[in-house]
Amino acid sequence: MSSSCSGLSRVLVAVAAALVSASSPCPQAWGPPGVQYGQLGRALMLCCPGVTAGAPVSWFRDGETRLLQGPASGLGPKLVLARAESTDEGTYTCRTLDGALRGMVTLRLGYPPARPVVSCRAADYENFSCTWSPSQVSGLPTRYLTSYRFQDHILSPRMSPSTGPWPCLQDPPGAARCIVHGAEFWSQYRINVTEVNPLGASTRLLDVSLQSILRPDPPQGLRVESVPGYPRRLRASWTYPASWPRQPHFLLKFRLQYRPAQHPAWSTVEPAGLEEVITDAVAGLPHVVRVSARDFLDAGTWSSWSPEAWGTPSTEPLPKEIPVGDQQHTQTEEEPQADSPAPPKPSLLPDPQPLDHRDPLEQVAVLASLGIFSFLGLVAGALALGLCLLVLSADIDGNGSQKQTESSSLLGQSHSE
Ligand SMILES: *[C@@H]1O[C@H](CO)[C@@H](O)[C@H](O)[C@H]1NC(C)=O
Ligand SMILES: *[C@@H]1O[C@H](CO)[C@@H](O)[C@H](O)[C@H]1NC(C)=O
Repeated sequence: MSSSCSGLSRVLVAVAAALVSASSPCPQAWGPPGVQYGQLGRALMLCCPGVTAGAPVSWFRDGETRLLQGPASGLGPKLVLARAESTDEGTYTCRTLDGALRGMVTLRLGYPPARPVVSCRAADYENFSCTWSPSQVSGLPTRYLTSYRFQDHILSPRMSPSTGPWPCLQDPPGAARCIVHGAEFWSQYRINVTEVNPLGASTRLLDVSLQSILRPDPPQGLRVESVPGYPRRLRASWTYPASWPRQPHFLLKFRLQYRPAQHPAWSTVEPAGLEEVITDAVAGLPHVVRVSARDFLDAGTWSSWSPEAWGTPSTEPLPKEIPVGDQQHTQTEEEPQADSPAPPKPSLLPDPQPLDHRDPLEQVAVLASLGIFSFLGLVAGALALGLCLLVLSADIDGNGSQKQTESSSLLGQSHSE
């Protein structure tokens, strides 16, 4: 048994001689003390911890008495495995000749890092994030070093003229995602994601510009309502995604799709604002509606579709009191919304319009009641009537100014909200 062992040793010495120059003894940069890492299918060397270089040792698998490599191997405190297999994983013990020192090593096997797969996305124009995943599972403890440089730097006051690199912050640490804060819309970035494990490092570089990776989150709060009196109409409304910063120069445009529930094909429209009135719905059928968003100037790509919302056109007859003016009112309301950047929608304000509409009616009512009162209270006569009219006009003036202050205080209230 010892002769076959020494024969094997001689072969291994040759392998080891080739290895010694390449691999560092007892690498201890990773993991808990006493753990060493190797690559599956390759030759490797285990290192007896705490033993001076050149001192001969005997190697055993932990808990076994069979000698793996004797002190006469000429390899000193190193154990050579010609081709590491997964069955070689486990704990080894090494012992000096006098038996005074006994070391333990745990071997873990895997593969060196491979260039990770990286993609970057901006949900707004202020910050963007990059995510990555391994292109090959190494089976070993792995970390990622993430940084970025400017490729084509447009100087801005808060940035130094240097082009980096700066760290791309991993938040939370250990997430397969890093964030570049305060990104510049027109600059070209070079992202460096380096996968590191005990067997090495592998770098993926990715060039991105904010305008090409801009992809907003889908619009929120999609609602579909019927329009009473219009069996072919549906009114859809939505809001900006919460992640989109509210600033006047960076707007979103929208794309709306709808179809009757049983139909496979969508109809698509590009609404001007945060609302769209569908005029060719199929009467009586429930409809599915969805909406997506994109940078107003076509940077990047469309967002994914919002969750679908449902609505069925109204079957009620047109209510007689609501005049066509009401329809026009909502349509004219749509225009300022298209232009106004800030989603605190004008329609959220208590609408002063109905108040104005009501005013003349009220004035007529006041007139009428005052008129009756004057008829009952006064003796009919031209002089008396003339007097009465004088009194009336004075009343209307008072009433009108009172209404004005009321509506402006209402507006003031909603502004301060
Ligand atoms: C971008 O990052 C900054 C700094 O962390 C943060 O204050 C800001 O809210 C972020 N912008 C958006 C739209 O999330
Ligand atoms: C990428 O990052 C790694 C780790 O920080 C670094 O060693 C390497 O030099 C970088 N590569 C380039 C091309 O910037």
